[in-house]
Amino acid sequence: MTSLFDPIRFGDIAAANRIVMAPLTRDRAGPGRTPTPLMTTYYEQRASAGLIVSEGTQISAEGQGYLDTPGIYSTQQIAGWRRVTDAVHTKGGKIVVQLWHVGRISHLSLLPEGQVPVSSTARRANGKTFTAKGFETVAEPRALRTDEIPRLIADYRRAALNAIEAGFDGVEVHGANGYLLEQFMRDSINDRTDAYGGSRENRARLVVEVMAAIADEIGAGRAGIRLSPVTPANDAALDSDPQAMFNLVVDKLAPLKLAFIHVVEGATGGPRDIAPFDYAALRARFKQGNPHGAWIVNNGYTRAMALDAVAHGAADMVAFGKGFISNPDLVRRLRDDAPIAPVVRETLYGGGAQGYTDYPPLEVARA
Ligand SMILES: Cc1cc2nc3c(=O)[nH]c(=O)nc-3n(C[C@H](O)[C@H](O)[C@H](O)COP(=O)(O)O)c2cc1C
Repeated sequence: MTSLFDPIRFGDIAAANRIVMAPLTRDRAGPGRTPTPLMTTYYEQRASAGLIVSEGTQISAEGQGYLDTPGIYSTQQIAGWRRVTDAVHTKGGKIVVQLWHVGRISHLSLLPEGQVPVSSTARRANGKTFTAKGFETVAEPRALRTDEIPRLIADYRRAALNAIEAGFDGVEVHGANGYLLEQFMRDSINDRTDAYGGSRENRARLVVEVMAAIADEIGAGRAGIRLSPVTPANDAALDSDPQAMFNLVVDKLAPLKLAFIHVVEGATGGPRDIAPFDYAALRARFKQGNPHGAWIVNNGYTRAMALDAVAHGAADMVAFGKGFISNPDLVRRLRDDAPIAPVVRETLYGGGAQGYTDYPPLEVARA
């Protein structure tokens, strides 16, 4: 039987174990939305994960929705990320960048002068984002024009190329949690009448074109995507038929032979059973013709659940979010069945080393 601690090869990536550090926004980038030396330390501390997925990282200035999140569109940002990837690789880890465009989940204070957030729709989300003033209501977006879509896809393509230049092992496109790509996929949000709205085919078009462009640019073996078919995060109301929609999305992505699909089961950070959904059906669709693509699962996994999922083939890898925030040596703790330290909520977003790089490894905690 396969173990959570066994190595795995998926696409062009070889990982030492099947434990993934989930993407975690921490709002600690420096001037120019650039990774800092403190961020390098944070990722280096967590390099025993089989695979690290970086925090959401905007593909363009337009794609930013929270204070002090890093980008991957400037030379300075690429250089900052290069220090992170070098540190992780020196420790024997693997790291992909999560390519993020927030769509309508943004605020005017975070965007270039004179720009408003863009989305599939001009309807504002009922939600808040984290700005210099704390949590503030998101701005009213404008709907992207059809003739802007090629430019948007080119931004993803460029960001993927930048990721390789920065030394990442690949990219995870953020197709989850109510951000731009989900704003196109779900009929509860997308109210377009062009080729990118209406039918399921049309609503899947953008995400499929983005993944095809990235696969063409850096190779499918270095490209994956995160999906969250039923999460209510960021005012993403349920699609009228989530199963049919996401079956179609995965059917359309399958021929690309991506390195992985990473699925958030249920409500991100909340109940796993918020809405009925057959994840095994998605996995089967992805695996057909691409047996070496990794199926990564996430959301509320305990050690026992993770061991079971991998042992029984329900997942190839399991991603942990909060566990990795407060346990830099989470892999070792899972292996030894040692206590898992809880997260401190107050220091999740923004600030410095406190609640970021000062969570001790087990032996220090015990001493
Ligand atoms: C502080 C924090 C930041 C997060 N940032 C991101 C992010 O940037 N991208 C993303 O896809 N999910 C993000 N998530 C969701 C996590 O990746 C994960 O799905 C969630 O924490 C559930 O996994 P867990 O139960 O193992 O913590 C974030 C969650 C937390 C707690």
